[in-house]
Amino acid sequence: MFSRSLQRLSVGFFSALRRGLYACGDWARARPHVAAWLYRPADGGDAEYREFNGRYFAHFSEQEKMLADRPRMDFYHAAIARQVRPGDRVIDLGTGTGILAAFAARQGAARVYAIDHSKILKHARRLAAHNHIEHVEFISTHSKEFTLRERVDVILHEQMGDFLFDEAMVTNVIDLRDRLLKPGGRIVPAAFEFYCEPIKVKDSRRIPFIWELDVHGYNFSCLDRSRPQEEQYYRHNSCDLGVVEHFLGAPAPALTLDLHTLQEADVPREIHLSRTVVNAGRLDGFVVFFRARVDGDLSLSSGPLDAGRAPHWGFRTLRVAAENFAVGDTIELTLTVGQWAEPDTWRWSHRKTADASLVHA
Ligand SMILES: C[S@@+](CC[C@H](N)C(=O)[O-])C[C@H]1O[C@@H](n2cnc3c(N)ncnc32)[C@H](O)[C@@H]1O
Repeated sequence: MFSRSLQRLSVGFFSALRRGLYACGDWARARPHVAAWLYRPADGGDAEYREFNGRYFAHFSEQEKMLADRPRMDFYHAAIARQVRPGDRVIDLGTGTGILAAFAARQGAARVYAIDHSKILKHARRLAAHNHIEHVEFISTHSKEFTLRERVDVILHEQMGDFLFDEAMVTNVIDLRDRLLKPGGRIVPAAFEFYCEPIKVKDSRRIPFIWELDVHGYNFSCLDRSRPQEEQYYRHNSCDLGVVEHFLGAPAPALTLDLHTLQEADVPREIHLSRTVVNAGRLDGFVVFFRARVDGDLSLSSGPLDAGRAPHWGFRTLRVAAENFAVGDTIELTLTVGQWAEPDTWRWSHRKTADASLVHA
C-alpha cells in the first residue's frame, strides 16, 4: 500500500519535472538569442547533424527516392555532360550510390574522388564494379576531413535540402572549393535561386491553425491562447502537388547564390519581399522552394507549380493565419534567419497594404 502511494508520487513528480523541462526547452528554442547559448548549431560541422545525415542516407529507401526522381537525374546527367571534360579531375561530394561519379567517369574524367560519410559507400563500390566504371576512387569520409595534394577541375554535389540550405550545402561546398578547387574550376551546380512565395492552398486540402476552426458549431478559438511553442508546428511539409492552388503574386527569387564566389557571411540574415497580388484569394502561407541552374537553359526546380519539378523534394510552407487579399494589394514579408541551415531558427512576419486605387475609389 505504502509502496504503491510512493510509486504514484514518484511518477507524478517525474512527469511534472519532464513537462517542466520540455516547456523550458520549447521556451529557449523559440528565442534564437537564448538557444545560441544552449544548443549546438546544426551546421555541416555539427557532430549530431553529421551522425543523423550519415544514418539517413545509409538506407536504400532514401537513395531510391532520389534515383527515381527523373527530372533530378536528367538534370544531373545533362549538367555533367556539359561541365565535365575528358581528363578532368573531379570531386563528387556526397556520392551516395556513386551515380554522379559514374556519369563523370563516363564523360572521360581522369579521376573522380567519390566521397561519402555514410555506410551507403560500400554499395557504391559494388555498383561501380558491376557497371564497369573505372577511374573512380571511393573514400569514406566527411568532406571537411578530405584532403588532396593537387586541386581538382570540378566539384559535383547534390546537397540541396527541401529548404535548400538545410543539408549544409553552402558550408560544405565552400569549404571544398576554398581548399581543393583550382582557380577557374567548376562547381556543378553552382547557381541557385531561393524562393519564398505567398500561396493559397486548395480549400479541400487546407489545414488551418486549430484556433481558426469551427466544426459544426464546435468552436476552437479559445485555443488561441495555447499556441504551441515548437517551430515545426508553424511549417507544413508536403510533396503533394494537389495542395497549392496558386501564388498570390508573380514569383521572383528572394535570393540568388553563386557557389563559385559566395562567402557564407554574404547570405543575408534578413530578407524583405514585396508582392503585388495578381491572383486574389486567401493567404495561407509562404512556400519555400528552389531552382538550381546550369548554363542558363538547364535548370532543376522544386517549385510546387512548376511543370517538370523534381518530385522527391518536398516544398515547405511557412504558415500564417488566413487573410484575404484582393488584386492590387501588396504583401510584404520579412524573413529573419538565425542560421540558414536550421529552419527552426527562421522567423517570418508579413503585413498587408491595401490597393490604394481601390481605397480612394
Ligand atoms: C542527397 S544525397 C546525394 C547522393 C548522390 N550524389 C546522388 O546524387 O544520388 C547526399 C549524400 O551526401 C552524403 N553527405 C552529405 N554531407 C556530406 C559530407 N559533408 N561529406 C560526405 N558525404 C556527405 C550523404 O551521406 C548522402 O549520401
